Formats: sequence, C-alpha cells, structure tokens
Amino acid sequence: MPPDPSDLSPQDLEEVEAEAAAAVAAAGTAEELRAVEGAVLGRHSGLAALNQGLGGLPPDRRRAAGQEIQATRARLREAIARRRGELEGIERRARLMAERLDLTEVLPVPGRGHLHLVTKTRWSLEDTFVGMGFEVVEGPEVETDWYNFEALNMPPAHPARTGQDSFYLRLGAPESILLRTHTSPVQVRLMESRQLPIYAVVPGRCYRRETPDARHIPIFHQIEGLVVDHGITFGDLAGTIEAFANAYFGPAIHSRLRPGSFPFTEPSAELDITCTICAGAGCRTCSSSGWVELGGCGMVDPNVFANVGIDAEEWTGFAFGFGIDRCAQMRHGLADTRLLLENDIRLLSQV
Ligand code: PHE
Repeated sequence: MPPDPSDLSPQDLEEVEAEAAAAVAAAGTAEELRAVEGAVLGRHSGLAALNQGLGGLPPDRRRAAGQEIQATRARLREAIARRRGELEGIERRARLMAERLDLTEVLPVPGRGHLHLVTKTRWSLEDTFVGMGFEVVEGPEVETDWYNFEALNMPPAHPARTGQDSFYLRLGAPESILLRTHTSPVQVRLMESRQLPIYAVVPGRCYRRETPDARHIPIFHQIEGLVVDHGITFGDLAGTIEAFANAYFGPAIHSRLRPGSFPFTEPSAELDITCTICAGAGCRTCSSSGWVELGGCGMVDPNVFANVGIDAEEWTGFAFGFGIDRCAQMRHGLADTRLLLENDIRLLSQV
C-alpha cells in the first residue's frame, strides 16, 4: 500500500527502501530489472509519493525529510546499477556457453553425397569383368581420325561414319582430331602396344553430335571388350556375353546375338539382353519384344589385325561394346536417358 503523503515518517521511508531493495535483488534478468527500476524510482513509486507528501510536512522537518528521500533514491540507484552489472555478467556467460564451438565434437554429416549412378554402374561393370579375368584399361577421349575410324576399317567416306556424327577439334589438319565417338579406338591402341594375348575391358566417355532425346545423349559412356588369343571363336564371344549378363543383371537375364554389321568385326552381331523391366514378358520399354539392345560385337576383322601388325593366321579375337548409361537405365528403370545428364535431385539421391 502506498504511504499516505500527509503522514511521512522515517519508518515509511525505510519500508519503501527495503521493499525496493528486495525487488531489485529479486530481478532475474536485465529486462526484469528495467521494470523494477521504473516501479521503484518512477512517477508512481513509493518514493515519488513520499516526495509529493513533503509539502504537507511542517517546514522545519521538510528539508531533512527531502534530503533523506534523495539519499534513499541515490542508494537505490546504486543498488540497481550493481544488480545490472551482475545480471549482465550472468547473461554474457550464458551466451558464451550457448555459442561455444566444440571443435572436437563429431557430428553426423547431414545429407552426405554419393557417387553418380553412372559411376557406380561403371564400377560394378568393371568388377564383374575383373571377376571374369579381364583387366581394366583406359584410353584418350581426344582421338585422331586414324584410331577412331581408319584403323577400324572405316576409311574416309565409309557409310558407317555417317552414323557417328563427330565433334571435331580445331587442331592440325581439318577433321583430323575429334572427340572419340566410341571406345573402339582403344582396341587399336591395345593391340599396337600390348603383348598378346589380351583380355581387357575399356570403360569411358564418348561423344556424338546428337540432339538429346529419350534414348540419345551427346555425351555417353561405353564399355569395350577385347580378347585376342590363339583359337578364339564366335562361341567364346557368345559364352562370354551370356556369362556377363547372368553375373551382372542376375541369372534370369540372358543374352542373344542378332546378325549385325560393323566395319571392324566380321562376322558382327547386335547384342540384346532380356528386358530387365518386365523380365522378358514384354513391356513398353522393350516394345513388347522381351529384349533390349545393349550394343554390338563380333570377331576382330582381319583388316584391323593387319593395321596393327598382328598375324590373323595365328591369332583370332572378339570385341564387344555397349552403353554403360543403358545398363544404368535398365538397372534403375529410367525411361529417359537425358535424366543422367541433368541435376534432378530425385535422380541424384537414388542409390
Ligand atoms: N563401337 C561400336 C559402337 O559404338 C560397338 C562395337 C564394339 C561393335 C565392338 C562391335 C565390336 O556402336
């Protein structure tokens, strides 16, 4: 209850001071302290009421009482300042604790990335072939016309070149250096530089000037296979492809070879596998045939052997090449190849 101004006594002042001091001490935050400050020193405080009551005192007491009120006010101000200092210290310590970085703390990394589907597919294809006794080799992506075409029995103006529209580089003679259109040039490099026999696969990026659509992208990946040894037959080729299809796609997936034509193999075949989407029953992806085309293959053409100085009377061999992107598509049920070049997070987060 506010003291009656007409009846100011030292007791009133003591009471007001004690109450105010208790409120200051009880303030737990800087904000609470600001409110207390207003209540104990402001216009509606007990002190203000006592001050107003001075006028009702006899003149001989008025001066002394006024001085006491001022002294009390000064003590309360000091108490408030002290309390403010304490509270600021407490709050600063709390903030420092909350903001402190523990550099030794190991936190789980949220949303850690992983390899792209195509990279994973390539690696597991490599593993499958290594398990079958092949070594993994790489070759350059920038090739000469000789390795990409001519040594592979595709002289200039050969009709097969029109199916492999190329990106040429402004280097050397016009149209002499290009981005490889397939991994087959590495066959030539291997046969030139290696001791026979050869059992190798060559994964890598290839380029063709193609307008992207659901089945074609201008940057794609192939894996080439090359075997050269004594007495290699077409039966070895067919058996190797079948063993690969079972090992990579599963025992329910088979392979078949259809007559085909490539300048660097003779005879040549188109290579199909059971459609992995419908397991051979027939669906939209395989146009109801139960089979999807994976790539091409055949027996190394004697003209190619001649270009690299291998005696075709003594050695025979087979080669195959197919799309890594197509394998990724079949394993992950992707309807559109273009997804593999885009950065759609729904595709990229697939494992
Ligand atoms: N290089 C051929 C292509 O890209 C595929 C192939 C490789 C065919 C090896 C036969 C032998 O179409």
